[in-house]
Amino acid sequence: MSSPDIPTLFPVDGGEPGGACSGAVPSYAQIFENNRRWAAEKTQGDPHYFERLSAEHTPEYLYIGCSDSRVPANEIMGVEPGDVFVHRNVANLVNNVDLNVMSVINYAVRHLSVKRIIVCGHYGCQGVKAAMQPRDLGILNPWLRNVRDVYRLHKKELDALTDPEARYARLVELNVTEQCISIIKTAAVQRSYVDKGFPTVHGWVFDMRTGLLEDLELDFPKLLRDVQEVYNLTDKDSIF
Ligand code: CO
Repeated sequence: MSSPDIPTLFPVDGGEPGGACSGAVPSYAQIFENNRRWAAEKTQGDPHYFERLSAEHTPEYLYIGCSDSRVPANEIMGVEPGDVFVHRNVANLVNNVDLNVMSVINYAVRHLSVKRIIVCGHYGCQGVKAAMQPRDLGILNPWLRNVRDVYRLHKKELDALTDPEARYARLVELNVTEQCISIIKTAAVQRSYVDKGFPTVHGWVFDMRTGLLEDLELDFPKLLRDVQEVYNLTDKDSIF
């Protein structure tokens, strides 16, 4: 990594107390009042809303995103409870030996039969930024090593970007792509795609400066073909 001086695009501590956008954060007690109001609003004009919600779980999407509080999955997608199965961790990583994310993917594909899996990164990701610093990050070292591995895989392209902000943004995008590839390496995804034609895997980046989602438009069939050359777990010679 040619420069450790990554400019701070976003304040680490979120700026004003109470979050950047919302004014005062609700008190602990207020949260339960908010919850009661929300539940009442949901049943107003639809008395069976929660009856239906609790009767079945058939989300169309699996979303894997960053834990960052400024990237709330359901809100930015404009979807309702029941629509999206969500997993979040620091820097939206899909690690082969992380039992948590692997369980989520397996359950979502094999039991919930999700049609699309999304990895959503975000510009200004502090996890990605931390991985670009020449520092001992303690317990975060093995976790963020995954991001450093992404850097190593794409070192030539990233080092060619002389603007540190551009390099940081590109690493966010490449990190999303590499996590999508990790998902495609799983037996659950490969076998489901062979048998049923889904799920497909998509890479997104959220830009909190505009509130907009960007689809990286990954070529899923090509990524799958490339992965299958080495990581074929379908018990078939080829799926194509
Ligand atoms: Co982040």
